[in-house]
Amino acid sequence: MNVPAPLPEGEEKVRAVRSMFDSIAPRYDLVNRVLTLRMDVGWRRSTVESLHLPADSVVVDLAAGTGDLCRELQHRGHLPIGIDLSWGMLAHARTSAPLVQADALRLPLPDGAAAGATCGFALRNFVDLAGFFAELARVVRPGGRVALLEVAQPRHRLLQWGHGIYFDRLVPRIGGLLSDGAAYRYLPRSVAYLPPLGTLLDSLDAAGFAQVDRRLLSGGIAQLITGTRR
Ligand SMILES: C[S@@+](CC[C@H](N)C(=O)[O-])C[C@H]1O[C@@H](n2cnc3c(N)ncnc32)[C@H](O)[C@@H]1O
Repeated sequence: MNVPAPLPEGEEKVRAVRSMFDSIAPRYDLVNRVLTLRMDVGWRRSTVESLHLPADSVVVDLAAGTGDLCRELQHRGHLPIGIDLSWGMLAHARTSAPLVQADALRLPLPDGAAAGATCGFALRNFVDLAGFFAELARVVRPGGRVALLEVAQPRHRLLQWGHGIYFDRLVPRIGGLLSDGAAYRYLPRSVAYLPPLGTLLDSLDAAGFAQVDRRLLSGGIAQLITGTRR
């Protein structure tokens, strides 16, 4: 039996994540649309709507990837700045928003620079979630909003079963056919990096966010976590 290698941690994880996204960048958008049957488009719309910020707000999109959330933010009249660790993802971005290659845990932004922040499908890629939330609290000014989109596991037993088959078996196969098999085998495994929900929400609260809330999307296969900077 093939026992998968343990998931990387620390600097090894940073290198592995960066090189994986560099390699899947050219077909990232296509694979995303196929794997989610385009539901990801609606999830990003809900993410931006949940900010409830006025037009012309500066919103930093962390782990911006190929810029989907930046485009949605612009569509809503906001002024996004996209930040990502992977040159490959940024090079394939389709957005006119300013993009910066940087680590979301060490943002090249002054305190209180943004009215809001978004982050799509990246929480499980960070090596230090509490450190990430502290950086969020530093760059988002008091009263500002954050909206964090992630994958989730449905609560309903039957949906859980179907989702398990899809996520653990089909996603690696489809990803392998259209892009890089190893990367899309890592995707379902990387969910193990996410702490239990209560810990996640408490940690966001402890970093300085009030009204912390979690909403499930599309029957619970995605989740949207929001909060307001105290
Ligand atoms: C699954 S992709 C999501 C991209 C985009 N947010 C979206 O919604 O499609 C995860 C992204 O997180 C980025 N990433 C991972 N660790 C990061 C870090 N420490 N700082 C900044 N970006 C990071 C990766 O390079 C990749 O582009």
